[in-house]
Amino acid sequence: MSLFDKLQPIAERLDAFSGGQVPFNTVIESILSPTEVLIGGRRTLMFGSNNYFGLSFHPDVLAAAQTALVREGAGTTGSRAANGSYAAHRQLEEAFASAYGKTHAMVFTTGYQANLGVIYGLCATGDTILLDLESHASIYDGARLSGAQIFAFHHNSPSDLARKLARIENRSNCLVIAEGLYSISGDVGPLGELSAVCREAGAYFMVDEAHSFGVYGERGLGYAEEQGVVDTVDFVVGTFSKALAGVGGYAVSNHDALRLLHFASRPYVFTASGSPANIAGVHKALDILLADRSLKTRLWENVRHVRRGLTSLGFTIGATESPIVPIEIGTAEQAITIWAALLEAGIYTNIVLPPACRPDACLLRTSYSAAHTPAQIDEALGIFERVGRALQVIETAA
Ligand SMILES: Cc1ncc(COP(=O)(O)O)c(C=O)c1O
Repeated sequence: MSLFDKLQPIAERLDAFSGGQVPFNTVIESILSPTEVLIGGRRTLMFGSNNYFGLSFHPDVLAAAQTALVREGAGTTGSRAANGSYAAHRQLEEAFASAYGKTHAMVFTTGYQANLGVIYGLCATGDTILLDLESHASIYDGARLSGAQIFAFHHNSPSDLARKLARIENRSNCLVIAEGLYSISGDVGPLGELSAVCREAGAYFMVDEAHSFGVYGERGLGYAEEQGVVDTVDFVVGTFSKALAGVGGYAVSNHDALRLLHFASRPYVFTASGSPANIAGVHKALDILLADRSLKTRLWENVRHVRRGLTSLGFTIGATESPIVPIEIGTAEQAITIWAALLEAGIYTNIVLPPACRPDACLLRTSYSAAHTPAQIDEALGIFERVGRALQVIETAA
C-alpha cells in the first residue's frame, strides 16, 4: 500500500460527479449580503452558513476592522507567545472573562485550535477524557493528540455518562466534554444534568458553545447560561466564526490552569495570532451582541417561521427548535440530487453524507440568521416546495 492509496476512494467518488456540482467544493463568487451570494453566476439565498446574526456586514464591525487594519497592519506575523500578543488580543480576553464572570480567558487563532489547545493543554497520558459521541472533530482531535484515555458516552445521555464515570478510579484527572448546540442535528446538550453528574463524580466539565454562543441564554453566553450552569462549568470554549462573524476561538475559566495554558498549550504557542482587523471586528461584534438583544428576537422569529413552513409542506425536520434545521432526506444519492437541485433553483444548503450520518439517513443541514428577511424565508419555502415535490421528497399536492 503506497502513501497515496488511501486517497483513492475520494478520487473515485469525485469521478462519479462527472461535470455536475460536487458537494463540499462549492465556490462562492461574490458575497452580496450576509444572506445572499453569487454561485455559478446566479443569485443564491444562503441557508448554509453560521452567520446567525448577520454581523459579517454590520457597519460598526466593518469600521472597527478597517481602523485596526490601517493602524496595526495586515497580520501580526507571530505567535501570542512571541511577538503576536497585541493590546487588542488582551482586551478581547478581558471582554470574554468579564462577560462570563470568570477570572481567566484565552483567545485562540481558530475555534478548532481553541478545542485542541484546551484539551491537549490540560490532558496527557494517564488522564481520562469522556466526550459526547457526537462531538465535533476538533474535540476528538484534541483528545487524541493529548494521549489521554478516551471514552465516548451516548449522545446527550447523563445516565450513560454517570455509568462510565463510575467505572473510573481517579476522577480528579478526568475531563468530560459536551457541546451547547450540536452543529448537525441541531439539538442542545442537557448541560444542567451533565454538570450535576460531573460534580457528583468529582470530574471536570468543559462545554463547547461554538454554535450556541449568542443564540441562548439571557445575555447570549450560550446554552450553559440558558441552563443556569455557567458558574459550575469548569471550562467554556467557543468560536468567533459563527455568531461573531470572524475567525478565532476563546476559552474562559476560573481555574488558574487556563492562565498557565498561555505558556503550555502548543496549539496556542506555535501558531500566529489572529490578525488585527479580525480581532477588532470580533470585539465589536461581541459588544453588539451583548448589547442588542433584538437580534436574538429576530433570529427566533425566523427559526419559528421556517420550521412552521417546512413542517406544513411535509418535510421531516430535526426535533429541536434551534437555528440549525436538518431536513431528513434518505440515501446519499437522493441527498446529492436534491442538494444540487436546490442550488440550481437558488438556495445554498449544507449536505450531510456518511460517515457523518447513517447511509440511509443523509440530511440537508439548513441554518438561519437574524439577517434573513421574512420574504427571503418565504422565497426559500417556495423553492423547497417546488424541488421537494419534483423529486418526491414530499408528497405532490392533490
Ligand atoms: C462544535 C464546534 N467546535 C469547534 C468548531 C471549530 O470552529 P472554527 O471553524 O471556528 O475553527 C466548530 C466548527 O464548526 C464546531 O462546530
